[in-house]
Amino acid sequence: MNDTIKPLVAGNWKMNGLTADLDEFRAMCQRMTPALAKKADCMICGPATLLSRLKGVAGEGPITVGGQDCHAARNGAHTGDISAPMLADAGASAVIVGHSERRADHGETSQDVRNKAMAAWSSGLTAIICVGETEAERKAGQAIPVVSDQLIQSVPDGAQAENTVIAYEPVWAIGTGLTPTTDDVAEMHAAARKVLIDRIGEEGNKVRLLYGGSVKPANAAALMAVEDVNGALVGGASLKASDFMAIVETYN
Ligand code: 13P
Repeated sequence: MNDTIKPLVAGNWKMNGLTADLDEFRAMCQRMTPALAKKADCMICGPATLLSRLKGVAGEGPITVGGQDCHAARNGAHTGDISAPMLADAGASAVIVGHSERRADHGETSQDVRNKAMAAWSSGLTAIICVGETEAERKAGQAIPVVSDQLIQSVPDGAQAENTVIAYEPVWAIGTGLTPTTDDVAEMHAAARKVLIDRIGEEGNKVRLLYGGSVKPANAAALMAVEDVNGALVGGASLKASDFMAIVETYN
């Protein structure tokens, strides 16, 4: 583990979260002690409809809130889309871009993702850029080249540790209960680190590399202990305060 990088555990609520779920978030905020906040950063990326209320619950406490996608433009005739300035206005400090569900469901290309990341930066948001191979790509022995290519094309020039986080999320591990072996995660994160250094120089050593895909309380400690894993992007297990905070507390 790189001890100089402060880890980040981010929850992705996806298309989940109604007013009643603010209680779960409140419980997370209560459980995030100052001692834990010194060891790990913690964020919930909620649905756009809840963001300002999540921020209201979080206040100036250590858990930050983020969006799940943004349009590349600041405003305009894009019915149903949400822009980075809107997310910032609602209290977000980050936004996920290029999640595999958006790449698959909305045909987003790595060039789109790169434009969205730059839009995020323009509004002062950290871009959490997601990459990951499909099951077929892994079986074909193409996982590392596929993810490397996604990184090269999705990470804009000028990426810095303070405005960019990378999340490696193998598509086949999302929502399935399956995870790569810790050796496979180590191999991929080492490859991703190298691509980042080639891409943005020494700064690439400082950018956080999260692992995502079926992270649960039971497997979090082993995954978070892998070299070059600087935290987690958590889907299903981030909906319950008890599960999510158990994952964050692996850093305690
Ligand atoms: P799960 O943790 O539910 O597998 O989801 C991972 C994910 O897609 C987070 O962005």
